[in-house]
Amino acid sequence: MSDSTKVTAPPAGAGSAAPLDLTDPALLADPYPAYRYLRTAHPVLRGPLGAFLVSRYEDCAALLRDRRMGKDFARSNFFEQVMGDAGDEPPPFLGLGLDDFEAKLFMLTDPPEHTRLRGLVAQAFTPATIERLRTAVAGIVAGLLDDLPERFDLMERLGTPLPIRVLGHMLGIPAADQARFTVWSAEIAGLLDLDVALEPEVARARREAVAQCTAYFMELAGRRGDGDDLVSQLVRARDEGSALSTQEIAATCVLLVVAAQETFSNLIGNAGIVFARHPHAFTRLAADPGVADATLTEILRLEPSAHQVGRIALEPFDLHGERIEQGDAVILLVASANRDERVFTDPDTFDSDREGPGHLSFGRGIHYCLGAPLATMMAREALRGLTDRITGLSLADAAVTYKPGMGLRGPARLDVVVQKRAA
Ligand code: HEM
Repeated sequence: MSDSTKVTAPPAGAGSAAPLDLTDPALLADPYPAYRYLRTAHPVLRGPLGAFLVSRYEDCAALLRDRRMGKDFARSNFFEQVMGDAGDEPPPFLGLGLDDFEAKLFMLTDPPEHTRLRGLVAQAFTPATIERLRTAVAGIVAGLLDDLPERFDLMERLGTPLPIRVLGHMLGIPAADQARFTVWSAEIAGLLDLDVALEPEVARARREAVAQCTAYFMELAGRRGDGDDLVSQLVRARDEGSALSTQEIAATCVLLVVAAQETFSNLIGNAGIVFARHPHAFTRLAADPGVADATLTEILRLEPSAHQVGRIALEPFDLHGERIEQGDAVILLVASANRDERVFTDPDTFDSDREGPGHLSFGRGIHYCLGAPLATMMAREALRGLTDRITGLSLADAAVTYKPGMGLRGPARLDVVVQKRAA
C-alpha cells in the first residue's frame, strides 16, 4: 500500500510494525511526524481496537460528508470488541451505552434523531444570534484580563474560564456553580479517547462526572421555564409538545458545555503557543485587527483543538485497498488532513495569507461544529483583549505539557511572559 519513499522509517509512536500507539507520550508531544508517515505509507491503517485511522485530507473531507458514515458507536463492531475484552466492568465511553446517560448526546446520534435534537438548539447558535452576545463576551474577557501580571498561566487566566462563563450566561448556570463544570468537562471529554485500559479510579471519576453533570442539568431543568436562557427555551419546547424528554434536555446541555469547554480552551492555549513561536503573527494582528479571522483560521489549521473525529461505517466499502466493513469504527485524523502536503503548500509553516481549501478543524457535513460561530466570536474577542493589553508573549517554559489523550489536544497549562502595553 506504500506509495512513496519519502518516509522510510516510522517515527516515535508509530511502532515498528504499525498499528500506531496513540498513547505514546512522544506522540502526544509531537504527533505530526507520525501523521506524515501515515499519510505517506498507510493512508488507511487498522489501529487500536480495530478502528481504522484515515489521515489524508481528501479522504477525511469526503468521509465527514459521507452519509454511509454514522456516529452511533453503540452500533459498532468496536463496541462489541470493547465489551468482549473488558470483562465484568467495561470502561466508560460516551455514547456506547456504558455510561450513566439515559439519553444520547446528539453528537453521537444519526438522523432522524440527530436532526430533531440538533434542530432544537440550532437557533441559539446561528451567526446572528451569536453576534448579539458579543458585548457580553467582551465584558467577560475584560474581567478576566484586568490587571495582568507579567507572567501567568494563559489557560487558567483565559482559556479555561472564558467558555464556561459564556456557556453559563447562555444556559443560565449561576456563576457560583460554574467552576465545577471545568472539572466535569475535562473528565467527560476524556471519555472521547476510547481508552480501554483506564485505572479504576480514573474510570470512577469519569462515571461520577457524567452522573453529577447530568443530575445538575436535570435539576436545573426542573427549576427553569420562564427565562430567556437556553435551558428555559428547551423546557418550554418540551412542554409545548416537542418530542423531547427531560433526560434529552440534560444530555444536550452536557454536550454543549463539554463540546465548548475543552475545544475552546485548547484553542486559546494553542494560539498562545503559535504566537510565542511566530511573534510576527501577534504583532501583525495587533497592528491590523482585520487579519483576526485569517489568523484564527491558520491557528485552527496548524494546531487544531480536536485531532480526531470518529465515525462508524453504516455499509461496507473499500479505501486505499483496505476493506472497511459495516460497523467498523473509523477515526478521521483531521489534524493530519490539515497538514496534507497534497493540498497545502509548506503545510507545517504558519501562513495566515495562505489560500486554498479550508481546514477540517470544525468538521464538515451534518455534524459540522454547531458552536463554530460562537467559538470564532469568543476567540476574536479574546485576541482583541490580549492585543489591547500586551505587545507580545513568550513561553516561560519551552517544553509544553499537553493534556492527556490524543482526541483533543491542547496544553495542560501555559505559563507565558508578556510585554505589557504602556498604560
Ligand atoms: C475551537 C473551538 C471548537 C472546535 C475546534 C470544535 C470542533 C468540533 C468538531 C470537529 C466537531 C465535529 C465532530 C464530528 O464531526 O464528529 C464539533 C461538533 C460540535 N461542536 Fe464544536 N468545536 C469548538 C467549539 C465549540 C463550542 C464553543 C460549542 C458550543 C456549544 C461547540 C459545540 C459543538 C456541538 C454541539 C457539536 C456536535 C454537532 C453535531 O453533532 O451535530 N463546539 N465541534
